[in-house]
Amino acid sequence: MMRPSRRIRIRPLASTDRDVVGEVFAGLSRSSRYARYLGAVEGLTGPMLDALSDVDPDRHVVLVAEVGHGRRRIPVGLARYVVDGPARAEIAYEVVDAWQGRGVGTRLARALIAEARRRGLAQVHATVLADNTASLRLLERVLPQARTRRHGDVVEVTAWLVEPPMEAADLLADLHVA
Ligand SMILES: CC(C)(COP(=O)(O)OP(=O)(O)OC[C@H]1O[C@@H](n2cnc3c(N)ncnc32)[C@H](O)[C@@H]1OP(=O)(O)O)[C@@H](O)C(=O)NCCC(=O)NCCS
Repeated sequence: MMRPSRRIRIRPLASTDRDVVGEVFAGLSRSSRYARYLGAVEGLTGPMLDALSDVDPDRHVVLVAEVGHGRRRIPVGLARYVVDGPARAEIAYEVVDAWQGRGVGTRLARALIAEARRRGLAQVHATVLADNTASLRLLERVLPQARTRRHGDVVEVTAWLVEPPMEAADLLADLHVA
């Protein structure tokens, strides 16, 4: 991987940052959009943009990576989690094509996982196209404890952020040893 650029800044997305979401989307090629949304998405509709920018510290956290300074700051990537169960959230991320392969995705994902841990989430999961090598490698690095399961064209990646609860079989084995 290329060395990460030092000019990158990561910050939480604000609910007023609707344009930032649109800008990042505009920087994605057709295949990146397909990989991100697991299907063809030509453009973001108003309701989609609303949903993607509807941040909430308790259920929808979004981080944005930016390059440049002051008013010339340009958003180049987003990473988000959406809580979809008790202490569990789905994660997703995207980096504009012009900035892919420079470590931005890894930095965003690491920051997102740190935030998820800080907020007490116990498990995260992601659905990744089976041929999305970049995303799968990124997850391997950032969540080395993750388990993967392939379902047709997609891979479900699940990772505990805390010690997983003991399975009944492990519990019995422990009792037996004791
Ligand atoms: C997946 C994605 C976010 C990765 O972001 P990135 O900034 O390019 O990733 P990084 O530079 O941090 O690299 C992450 C890993 O992917 C590898 N990688 C990057 N681009 C790659 C490519 N085109 N082909 C194969 N591997 C690639 C890197 O080498 C690195 O692996 P390593 O640490 O073993 O060297 C980016 O490619 C993207 O936005 N893709 C489209 C949207 C998408 O797939 N989102 C994920 C859906 S869950």
